[in-house]
Parts: sequence; C-alpha cells; structure tokens
Amino acid sequence: MESHTRIISFSWKRILFALTTFLVTTEVNILILSSNVQAEGYIHHLDFILEEKNYTRLCATKSMLVVNGMFPGPTIRVRRGDTVFVNAINKGTFGVTLHWHGVLQPRNPWSDGPEYITQCAIKPGANFTYEINFSVEEGTVWWHAHSDWTRATVHGAIVVYPPEGTPYPYPQPDAEEVMILGSWFKGDVRAMVEEDLVEGVDLPTSDAYTINGQPGDFYPCSNGSTYRWHVDYGKTYLLKIVNAAMNAELFLGIAGHNLTIVGMDGSYVKPFVTRYIMISPGRTIDALLTANQTLGQYYIIARQFISAVITYELYDFTNVSAILQYNGDYTPPEKPEFVTLPNYYNINAAMDFTGRIRSLADEAHPIDVPMNITTKMYITASLNQFLEPGDTFRMSSSMNNISWNNAKLDILTAYYRNISGVYTTDFPDEPPYFFDFTGILPGYDMVDADTGTRVKVLNYGEEVEIVFQGTNVFNSSVQHPMHLHGYDFYVVGAGRGNYDFDNDPKTYNLVDPPHLNTMSSPKSGWVAIRFRANNPGTWLLHCHLDRHFSWGMNTVLIVLNGPTKETSLREPPSNMPTCKPTLELKGTAEDKLFEG
Ligand code: C2O
Ligand code: CU
Repeated sequence: MESHTRIISFSWKRILFALTTFLVTTEVNILILSSNVQAEGYIHHLDFILEEKNYTRLCATKSMLVVNGMFPGPTIRVRRGDTVFVNAINKGTFGVTLHWHGVLQPRNPWSDGPEYITQCAIKPGANFTYEINFSVEEGTVWWHAHSDWTRATVHGAIVVYPPEGTPYPYPQPDAEEVMILGSWFKGDVRAMVEEDLVEGVDLPTSDAYTINGQPGDFYPCSNGSTYRWHVDYGKTYLLKIVNAAMNAELFLGIAGHNLTIVGMDGSYVKPFVTRYIMISPGRTIDALLTANQTLGQYYIIARQFISAVITYELYDFTNVSAILQYNGDYTPPEKPEFVTLPNYYNINAAMDFTGRIRSLADEAHPIDVPMNITTKMYITASLNQFLEPGDTFRMSSSMNNISWNNAKLDILTAYYRNISGVYTTDFPDEPPYFFDFTGILPGYDMVDADTGTRVKVLNYGEEVEIVFQGTNVFNSSVQHPMHLHGYDFYVVGAGRGNYDFDNDPKTYNLVDPPHLNTMSSPKSGWVAIRFRANNPGTWLLHCHLDRHFSWGMNTVLIVLNGPTKETSLREPPSNMPTCKPTLELKGTAEDKLFEG
C-alpha cells in the first residue's frame, strides 16, 4: 500500500483536471471525496450507491438496482496510471459484486469482483471499497455487476485517457461520446433467472435492446425518449461504444456516416473505416466519426447478430435506435435517414469485421507476443444437457466438457488461505474425447457434461496459448465471446471448422495481432489467444453470454506468485465481504475459514 499513497508532486492543474473530468461527466449523485496525485497518476475516490429505482420502458414500470440513480451508471474518467477507489454501498435487497472489465488489476484480484471467484457478495446494508489500478489500459473499458444477472442494470463506461502530455495516436477529436448498448427485460430479470435455473429451462430473452438506456423509435411507448446525440457540422467525435447486452452480439451502424475504428478493449488498433460494426458482449470499441453530412437527423441502429440455430437460444429480433442529430438551422425531416445493417444471420459480415482488427503496433505502442509457448490449452466450448437423478435433464454448458460449479467460498480466499475442499486443480488442457467437433453430430452423443470446480494452475511467467474450439454439440454451434479477467491477450488466429494442430499455427498473425480482453470463437470454429502469465491471482475465464456463463461455461486460471514481492499477490484488504457459512462445508472449508 505504501507506494500507492506516496505523493510526489502537487499540481493544481492536475487536480483541476481530475475534478473537472469527473464533475462534467458523471452528472448527478457522484460524491467526489478527493483526488490526489501520486507517483504513477492520480488517486480518485468515488461512491457508488446501489439502490432500487423505478424505470418505465415499453409501457411498463419496474423497480431495478442501479448505481447513483443512473441507468446506465456513471462514466468513470481517468488517465492511464491512475488509481480509483470505489466505495460500493449496497442499499439494495440482495447481495452484489462489481467488476472492472478490461482493467488488469496487477497483483490485485481482491478488487476484481466476480462472485464466488474473487469475493463473496456485498450484502444488503454493507459496503466494500474496490481499488482499481489502471496500468496499461488506454481507451475504453467498463464496469458491471458480476453476480447473478445484475449487470443488466448495473454497468457503466470507463474512459481511460493517455497520461498527461501524451497525445492520442490519431488526430485529437473535438469531443467524445459514450454509447452503451444494453438489454432490457420487462420483468425482474434476477427473479426470472433464478426460477429458470432451478427448473433447468432456458434463460430469459430480452424484450428490447437499449442505447444509453433507451430502446428508441421502433418499440412501443418509446419514441418520445429516443436517445439523441447532438453534433456540430465539421467536427470529429470520438465515439466510445460498450456492448453491455446480456446475451447478444450486435451489429450497429449509423446512417450516412462511416466509422473509423481506432481502439478496442482498452488498446489501440490500426485505424480502419467501416459502415457497420459487430460488437460482442464485453467488447468496447473506440471510433472516430466526422459530422460531414447534410444537416439533418440520422438513425443509429443496432440489432442482434445471431450465430446459432434455435435449439437452446431464443432471440430478441428487435431493432434499437438512437438519432445522430446535427445542430443548426434546418427543417427537421419527418423521419431520420435509415441505415441498412447486415442481416441477423450474416456470419460473413461478422467475420469480415473482426478479421480487420489489427494492433496499432507502432513505435509508441509496441507489441509483445509470447513466442515460446510453455502451456498450450485446447478448450472446447459446448452447450450441453445435464442428467439429474430421476431422469430429468437440465440445460448446461461446458468448457472441455466440464460445467463449472460455484463453491460456497470464493476461489481466491480458498487459494490464498490454503483451504482445501473448495476446488480441484485438474482442469484439463484438452477435451476428454476428440471427434468432429463442428460436424453434424449423430444423435445425442456428447451432450452430457461433467460438473466440477476445476481450475488450471499456471506458473508465473509462463507463455500460454489457448485455442477455443466452438462445437456443434446439441446442434448448438454458436459464437462464444470469451473473456479473461486479469489479462489482455493477443488474438493470433481464428478460423472455421476444427482447429488443425499442424497447419493452423502456420497461419497465425504474430506481427500485429489484436490485443483484446474479449474475443468470440467463430460459429463452428476456433480462435487462438496468447498471453504471458505475469499477473498472479485467480482469474475467471468465461463466455460473456450470461446464459452460457450461468450454465457453467467458465473456469479459473490460478497464476502462482513469482519470485519477488513485485511478482506476488498483494495482501487482501481488511474488509473483504465474507461468505455465509454453510452446512456442506462443515469439516472442511468452513471450519478453516471461520477458525480465523
Ligand atoms: Cu465483463 Cu467476467 O466480465
Ligand atoms: Cu458462450
């Protein structure tokens, strides 16, 4: 902690920057306790008050948990190298945790957030202060709840500016705009999910998508509140798009305007111009837009990219809209100009877009792709069924045919305090059987998965390659947006069909592979990622479609400590939320934990 509070210089300009960025951008209700300068950057303190509030969308009103009375929640604005303390105060009626998606949190999984992985829930009436350490991220990342499906309403953007005096690697934009894509459920999503999980049936499908909280003109009771982005002719805007939707990859386009993609997931990319984007849940995209069209109003439209056939997945076919509106004197059109998007099932359009992503990889932003792989994992991602006693089936999903079971205690505490009986360290490096994963699979072979709380242990400094293989088990091949906590990774290759261990590595891009934190395995295809295991901790690896995640499509990577203090886990904060004691753990984990 010492180095985090050392103040080496004092500059009013810096403090004013910190204060004004927060004040200007977070609207109401954020309490700024203080902002200080430290060796690596500023220290900020924020309060996130989690409280239920009524919202009306699609002609129906419901109460839902939000942060500081806002949906989407407040935008956090920092510079690379800053530290933010967020005091999460739970005034709701159920436990909740928060995650800082895309923030690597070096040595500090204590504040990473996923429930049962790095902490237990902050109970109603309690609070917990997260320490968010910004190290290499630059661009846009985001935050969201990481317990149950609470993230549907508890999420917001994090804008990370370059360090003071460092320009963007692209022309300085005139202004910026945050655009958060969300899922709207008319009912109480948490209650619905809980019920469906108990019954083992399909999980809820959203009733609408939203742009900055609004469904837009094509939904009932919505066109009075469509989100409008006001622009001045001739100006260039930095648009920061977050896909916070629960279960949907989305196409998005803006009528009459191109986007120049300049960043993703908190890293810079080689700029490329496009008419549309495909954005997976978890992904963030930074794009430049120049307002150079005839003064008018232009639709911004998003809708689902559907990569599966309807076996398990139900879809939300609705189209969300916002309006790009030029300031100035003109007669508003009767209807904004429309935009044509790729159709729902257009895999080629989706793959064309993701295939264009390259790291910027210039002198100021060199890449560092691991070249001497010491651990290679081949992980199949499948939808499954799970046979219960009494011959009933429930829906399930798996990695390497293991469907994750949460323990009663978080993995990080069990690891740090050496508590046995919580997890096992035998998550396999490959699936139990090899077959034609992406072929037409006969009958219902391979649909049953095992369950377990099995983690993969990595030595500090290992160079890791993981190939994710989407399967057609259950005739349910679909894209899986895979997200790794604690790390960014290089996406070195991707393709359709089964991964070819001999020939596919020859096609890898090791020159300027995209540097991301979330990447979809293509439908009936594979994606290969590489990273260096230099962040000790217990890190969740999961599909960012919450319906798959809830069914068990995840595992945990435990990265062991390195040889020094600087390469080892930090101490836990004193006020970590604890788990409820349970009967099942008697004699093992519970006794040890509560012995103190
Ligand atoms: Cu967006 Cu496990 O996170
Ligand atoms: Cu998935």
